[in-house]
Amino acid sequence: MVDIAVIPGDGVGKEIIPQVCEMLYSVDQSLNFVYYDISSKRYLDKGVTVTDEEINDLNGYKSIFFGAIGDFRVKPGIMEQGVILKLRKELDLYMNIRPAISFREITGNEINITILRENMEDFYSGIAGTLPGTKKFKKQDDIYDYNIDISGTSDNTIYYTLGMLSERNLNRFFKKAFEIADSDIITVTDKANAVEMYSLWRDIAGRYSTKMGKKINFEYADSLAYNIIKNPSKYRYIIAPNLYGDIISDMTSSLAGGLGYAPSGNIGDKTSMFEPVHGSAPDIAGKDIANPVASILSSIMMLKHIGMNETAAIIEKSLKNIINNGIIPIESGGSYTTSGFIKQIVARATLMNNEL
Ligand code: NAI
Ligand code: MG
Repeated sequence: MVDIAVIPGDGVGKEIIPQVCEMLYSVDQSLNFVYYDISSKRYLDKGVTVTDEEINDLNGYKSIFFGAIGDFRVKPGIMEQGVILKLRKELDLYMNIRPAISFREITGNEINITILRENMEDFYSGIAGTLPGTKKFKKQDDIYDYNIDISGTSDNTIYYTLGMLSERNLNRFFKKAFEIADSDIITVTDKANAVEMYSLWRDIAGRYSTKMGKKINFEYADSLAYNIIKNPSKYRYIIAPNLYGDIISDMTSSLAGGLGYAPSGNIGDKTSMFEPVHGSAPDIAGKDIANPVASILSSIMMLKHIGMNETAAIIEKSLKNIINNGIIPIESGGSYTTSGFIKQIVARATLMNNEL
């Protein structure tokens, strides 16, 4: 038995994820899905985002399959910080992989760019406050040991967020990034020309690329954004700090067919979490029209990550095969509903499984 924790979440996540799990089970009955009700609905009913017990539980799985979190009835930030950012931090998921790989039948082009995004630090440090005011930050764990004392004196209100990068986190991040990037075309991006902390980013990128025999190109994030749109075929792997990686990966996913085709993996040394890049899409939830491909691609990444390569290959081939045969989701102008599209994969995969 291979246990996988499943957090369907809200909106289209709740709609798509259980159907994708059933699809996976139809191909491989060794999979066992354990569901966790971490959702905005539960927060509205009971006032809890994620409990310590759940974090403890989730830390025991090799992989977690996540849908999306977000509901307009909850104030922005509560679920995003209380669930998504918290899971990344507490489960130590320091590498975010976001492939943007197009299907020619859908986009007419061939985009093959994977963003490797630092997932813990930068401007997502969570160290924030206002001045005037007095705030002390203390933290001590494997990575950090800091004590920051900021106090305000002026009557001019200032909001701040500290961007930070640590050598220890970047060491493991770049090592993992160069293990993943199996290509000669690797771009490392930042704004080292304007933001001081990225000099550390550059140093460590340079050190690990040399050590691991990888050729890299540095490109500033603004120039990179410009050039990706102008000439996307110039890029294959892009290694980015947290904030720029977030923005650039939405851009590349739009080139590769849209949010409905963008999968992701949050990788740690112990546990990893796989999820579509899109959110809960409340505007289309409950109508059976959401594109399930991003979740299906995320599940394929998950299976490969835990070494279930045969099962992954069957799903991947089935997905390509049905799209080649004109089975296109509603999002891309086709006629296939969420459930209709998934049924087609199950049918195709069952045929393949029987042929093996
Ligand atoms: P969103 O990704 O949910 O939707 C953006 C647009 O893309 C919408 O028009 C939606 O209909 C469309 N879309 C998204 N997924 C689709 C799919 N599978 N098929 C077809 N169309 C799709 O982003 P939005 O609207 O900014 O956020 C909605 C909620 O989701 C918010 O509460 C937000 O905080 C949350 N969110 C959660 C994320 C997560 O759980 N990782 C990521 C992004 C947003
Ligand atoms: Mg984003």
